[in-house]
Amino acid sequence: MKKFLVILSCALLLSSCGGFTSAEREVIFGGEGDIMSLTTISNRADSLLLRSKSQPMNRGMVATEELATLCRRMLATVQNPENEGVGIAAPQVGILRRMVAVQRFDKEGEPFEFFLNPEILAMPGEMKLGGEGCLSVPEMRGVVSRSQQIVLRYRDLDFVEHTDTVSGFTAVIFQHEIDHLDGVLYIDKMEKE
Ligand code: NI
Repeated sequence: MKKFLVILSCALLLSSCGGFTSAEREVIFGGEGDIMSLTTISNRADSLLLRSKSQPMNRGMVATEELATLCRRMLATVQNPENEGVGIAAPQVGILRRMVAVQRFDKEGEPFEFFLNPEILAMPGEMKLGGEGCLSVPEMRGVVSRSQQIVLRYRDLDFVEHTDTVSGFTAVIFQHEIDHLDGVLYIDKMEKE
């Protein structure tokens, strides 16, 4: 009985804290080198994954080797000189979790930053047409109408919540990356190729 209670309380503790699943760990630590393989719409299994809704990140994932490795590898993947991007969402490396990396062109040094559970609270900016591409949609670009300003809520890598107003091209990247977390691609919204 005592043993059963210990097992039960461990299970409850695990489910409330969360953490990455073993399938997710396999992807995070799998393959060779830091650059991860990108999910693309040209592959059927990838395509289904890219069209799925991602699950929230949880507190149990914070300050883990899994998260540190995932961040390092997503960064290496989006900064791959052979196939560079300005943003990347976790589903693009096969992890259906609400996490994105965005290049902050609105900050000095234009660093990449990570955002957990990002949400757009408001889009007060005017809509403007702009060119977009996506690492998951090879060899294509399209024109998409996006808000030039967004109010964003997210958690940082320590799971601390923030609200921020972002403008210009960086706001467009956020809209594109957050769409990925709901299975939406820019090609769904583009006005012309
Ligand atoms: Ni994309």
